[in-house]
Amino acid sequence: MSEHSEAAGPSEAAGPSEAARSGAVVIGASSGVGRAIARELATRRWDLVVAARSADVLAALADDLARDHAIAATALTLDVCGSDDDLDAFCSTATTVLSTIDAVLITTGAIAARDDGTGAWDDMRSLVDTNLVGVMAIAGRFVSVMEEADNGTLVLFSSIAAEAPRNRNVAYAAAKAGLNAFAASMQHRVNGTGVGVQLVTLGYVRTAMTAGQDLKLPQADPAQVARRVADGLGDGSRTIHEPRWWGLVTRVLRGLPRGVYRRLKF
Ligand SMILES: NC(=O)c1ccc[n+]([C@@H]2O[C@H](COP(=O)([O-])OP(=O)(O)OC[C@H]3O[C@@H](n4cnc5c(N)ncnc54)[C@H](OP(=O)(O)O)[C@@H]3O)[C@@H](O)[C@H]2O)c1
Repeated sequence: MSEHSEAAGPSEAAGPSEAARSGAVVIGASSGVGRAIARELATRRWDLVVAARSADVLAALADDLARDHAIAATALTLDVCGSDDDLDAFCSTATTVLSTIDAVLITTGAIAARDDGTGAWDDMRSLVDTNLVGVMAIAGRFVSVMEEADNGTLVLFSSIAAEAPRNRNVAYAAAKAGLNAFAASMQHRVNGTGVGVQLVTLGYVRTAMTAGQDLKLPQADPAQVARRVADGLGDGSRTIHEPRWWGLVTRVLRGLPRGVYRRLKF
């Protein structure tokens, strides 16, 4: 794990004092939705740990955010599929770097060009590891930290693929469906405590993940998703669909007779 820190600059007149600032860990911050969330929280003057595997990208992001928003932003490299020791070390460093952990947002995810359920098992396992096993492994550690403080919100990112599985993303959909169950179990676990668990189910979003794909429905802007997620932090909500209309689309898809659903090409 490498570390790159930027100390906070002078306080912005309208922003919270140094002591009052909230802290968040954003895992998956090197790209797409995670990057947009890091930017959005920085504009709201949260102190941040930004993490993923791409050390250079994260270091540049932390520099920019610290400079532009007068916050403390620290870049830490993390492979969520790494060893237990690496995950422990990451959690401990992030907890030390931030004076308070008010949110842990894990946008980590990956898709594959071929994910039809018949490919090489290593490829399928990699999708399940990245989208589910690794996310559970790091999320569980931070839930323990937040439970000890009786404070904080874990935010997990799922997909409409879990609600409307297709033959194009078999392992991905299976992993995200597992993540939905994990989120529900953790919500049950923390019920009645100061800790919250939110599940954000995304429709199409314009990021590296969707680049070059022939998508039949409009894509949301990552900044729009980030604003909605930031607005919802700690508000007690358990599930968020973004864009909102995707919630309706999935309800319609789930309500279709199975024979009709199986014939759909999307
Ligand atoms: N974009 C969409 O249309 C869409 C739709 C539904 C759901 N989602 C979900 O939304 C989340 C964000 O997606 P996105 O569109 O922002 O994707 P993205 O732009 O591809 O970003 C994925 C992020 O995950 C990180 N990551 C991948 N493997 C990792 C690993 N082993 N350890 C740590 N970090 C890892 C990547 O960073 P490094 O490569 O630097 O590690 C990157 O920061 C994902 O969970 C995705 O499944 C997206």
